[in-house]
Amino acid sequence: MLRKHPSRDYYTTLAKKLGLFSRAAFKLQYVQRRYGFLKPGDKVIILGSAPGGMAQLAAKYVGPQGLVIAVDVKPQNFKIADNVVNITSDVFDPEVTKKIKEALKGELADKLISDLASNLTGIREVDIPRQLELVEAALRIAGELIRKGGGIYLKLFESPEVKNVEDRLRLIFQKVKRIVPTATRKHSSEIFLLALNKK
Ligand SMILES: C[S@@+](CC[C@H](N)C(=O)[O-])C[C@H]1O[C@@H](n2cnc3c(N)ncnc32)[C@H](O)[C@@H]1O
Repeated sequence: MLRKHPSRDYYTTLAKKLGLFSRAAFKLQYVQRRYGFLKPGDKVIILGSAPGGMAQLAAKYVGPQGLVIAVDVKPQNFKIADNVVNITSDVFDPEVTKKIKEALKGELADKLISDLASNLTGIREVDIPRQLELVEAALRIAGELIRKGGGIYLKLFESPEVKNVEDRLRLIFQKVKRIVPTATRKHSSEIFLLALNKK
């Protein structure tokens, strides 16, 4: 069973203290510190970006020459930074890639982060397939919009399907790694796949 977790914990408190919009920011910080995932000047797409903690840090990591395209079905009606563009869209909307392409002004993106998650029911048979549909949407968008040499950081829940997604990523990217950021809650089945150097 996938558990729901109490909202208050160390990272929630720390996020608040540091003025970050969400504890999710630390899941990006983790991969940034270990792998230098985002580079100055990168154009990065974040799917599932609200309330915005990851976008706040991504904006800093890519710097003023970079661009963060923050996509969420929930409206994000506030300016995170000058180099962040908010797009309110469902990732299943066929128009979503068109909207992201417009923000990219015809160029491809360097990186994609998918932190997409539906509200958990706690029923594995419901939550896992829903999460996998979100993963497929993220992979479709990445397939179309990430440049050669680019990378993705993708959230999933532990299930036998993770291996399948990992194998597919290995065909497309030179390096694929399973990551469990320290900010992932103790009993969560959340994991991330980091895929680098698109072939
Ligand atoms: C874990 S939260 C993301 C936290 C965020 N990365 C941050 O840094 O604050 C998951 C997000 O996925 C979004 N989401 C879920 N299904 C979606 C969909 N079909 N299209 C777009 N966004 C979706 C939710 O609205 C929610 O904001």
